[in-house]
Amino acid sequence: MSEKLLEAVNISKSFFSNKVLDDINFNIGYGEVLGLVGENGAGKSTLVKILTGVHNPDNGYIMIEGSKVNIKNIGIAKNQGINIGFQELSLTNNLSVAENIFIGKIPSNHIGFVKTKQLYDMADDLIKKFKVGIQAKDKVEKLSIGNKQIVEILKSISSNPKLLILDEPTSSLEELEVENLFKLILELKKNNYSIIYISHNLDEIFRITDRILVLRDGKNIGIFNREEIDKKGLINKIINKEIKEFFASEDKKAKSLEVLLDVNNLSDHENFKNVSFQLNKGEILGFAGLVGSGKVEVCKTIFGLSKKYSGDIFLKGKKIFFKSPVVARRKKISFISEDRKVSGLFLRDSVSNNMISEILKAVSVANFLSNFKVSVIAKKFIDLLKIKIAKTTQNVMFLSGGNQQKIMVSKCLASKPEMIIAVDPTRGIDIGSKADIHEILKEQAKKGVGIILISSELDEVIHMSDRILIFVNGEIIENINSEDFDSQKISLAINKGKDEKENSK
Ligand SMILES: Nc1ncnc2c1ncn2[C@@H]1O[C@H](COP(=O)(O)OP(=O)(O)OP(=O)(O)O)[C@@H](O)[C@H]1O
Ligand SMILES: [Mg+2]
Repeated sequence: MSEKLLEAVNISKSFFSNKVLDDINFNIGYGEVLGLVGENGAGKSTLVKILTGVHNPDNGYIMIEGSKVNIKNIGIAKNQGINIGFQELSLTNNLSVAENIFIGKIPSNHIGFVKTKQLYDMADDLIKKFKVGIQAKDKVEKLSIGNKQIVEILKSISSNPKLLILDEPTSSLEELEVENLFKLILELKKNNYSIIYISHNLDEIFRITDRILVLRDGKNIGIFNREEIDKKGLINKIINKEIKEFFASEDKKAKSLEVLLDVNNLSDHENFKNVSFQLNKGEILGFAGLVGSGKVEVCKTIFGLSKKYSGDIFLKGKKIFFKSPVVARRKKISFISEDRKVSGLFLRDSVSNNMISEILKAVSVANFLSNFKVSVIAKKFIDLLKIKIAKTTQNVMFLSGGNQQKIMVSKCLASKPEMIIAVDPTRGIDIGSKADIHEILKEQAKKGVGIILISSELDEVIHMSDRILIFVNGEIIENINSEDFDSQKISLAINKGKDEKENSK
C-alpha cells in the first residue's frame, strides 16, 4: 500500500482566461489533517472541487493509494472515498438522526418495512465509535446547527470514505460546537481518516491540523508542518506582507450622545420580548448571545423583515413602523448579512450591478444607468475591499465565498447608510480583508453612522463595540460599556441562558 492516501500532481485550472490554480502539487497521508489556507479567491474551494469531481483540471492528475484516478465526476470521487461536508446541510429535518445518517441505505425486510432496531443500532455504533453527544432517535429539526453538522459528517462516514473535506465548517458554529466538531475530527484521525480542513481562522488551523498548505493567487506557496511555522509567519505566507494588528484597539473617543434609534419594549411574541435600547449616532453597539437568543430576530424586525411586533421604534425621534426592508432602506438603514435573502445579493447579476442595486437613482442620468458612474463606484469598492474578480461584468455567482461577502459589504456602503446592521460582516472573509472591514466600519462610525454588530466571534464584538447588550432567551440581560469589557464575564453571561435551559430539563 502507498504511504500516502492521495497525491495531487501538477494540477492547473483556468476559468476562461483566469488561471485559478497553477501547477499545484501536494499529498495527504493516512490519518492526517491537512489545513488549506489562503486569501479569498486564492483557489481553495476550486482545488477541493477538483478532488471531488465537480471540476476537472486542465492539467495534472490525482493519485489515490498509488494509482492514477480520473475523477471525472462526483460519483467517481465518492467511489474513491472522497467526501465533502457541505456547508449547506443536506439533512432532512423531520427525520431522525439515524434515518439521516443512513438515508438511501436504510435496512428493510423483504416487504419493505424498515428494520428500525437495526437502523438505530447501526447509528448508535457510529455515535459511540466517534463519541458524539447525540441520540440516534432525535429528530434532526431539534438539533443545533453544530449537531446538524456532526450528523452531516456521520452521514459522510457511513459511506466509508477515506478522505473528508471540510470547507469552512465552523463559520456558523458557537464556541462549544466548535469544540465538539474538533473532538470528532480527532476521533476521525484516530480511526485513520484523512481530512482537508479549510478555514480563515488561523487559531483553528493551528489547533487541528498536522500540516498546512498555503495557496496564494492559485499557486502553492508551501506546505508547512504545524510546528515549524507560527501565526505571524503563516499570515506572511498567505498575504505576503505584514498586516496591521488584528483587532487593533483604537482610542475609544467619546461618542455623540445624539440618539439615532430608540427601541421601546419590542416583542415579536416568539423570539424576543421587552427589548428596549438606544443606539446613538456614531456608536457601535454589539449584540452578544447564543444562537436562538433573539439577537438576530431583533435586527431583522428593525429592518422590516418581521411585521408582527409590538412596541415602538423611533428613528431620530420619529416613530416608525418598519413593515418591510423597503421602508428601512428608505430611512437609510442598511443590513449586511451572509443570509442572501436578507441582504439581497443577486447571484445571477454582475458585480457592478449588485454594488449599485440600492442606489439606482444616484448612478443614473435622465433615468438611464450611467456606465461611467457605475464603473467609478465599482472600482472604488474593488480597490477598497481588494475584491478579486476578473471583470466587473462577471456574475457574482462565480465569485469565491469571501468575495461574495465583500460585494455585500460594498452594496451596503454604496447606499451611504445612516445606520448599519451588520450580522457577521466578516464571515468567510480572509484575515487581511477582515482588518480592512473593521477599519471601514469604524470609519463609518466616526462619520456618525450608528452600527449594530453581531458576530459569531465574541472577540470581534468585544474589539469593535463601544457597548455590548447581552441577549439571553429573547431578553436583554445586561448592558456593558467598553471600560467594563471582560471576555470571560461576557462569555459566562451569554451562556447563562443555556445553563438555565439545561437545568430546567
Ligand atoms: N465556476 C467558476 N467560473 C468562473 N470563475 C470561477 C468559478 N469558480 C471559481 N472561480 C474563480 O476562481 C477563483 C478562486 O475561487 P475559489 O472559490 O476557489 O476561492 P477560495 O480560495 O475558496 O476563496 P474564499 O476564501 O473566498 O472561499 C476566484 O477568482 C473565482 O472567482
Ligand atoms: Mg472558498
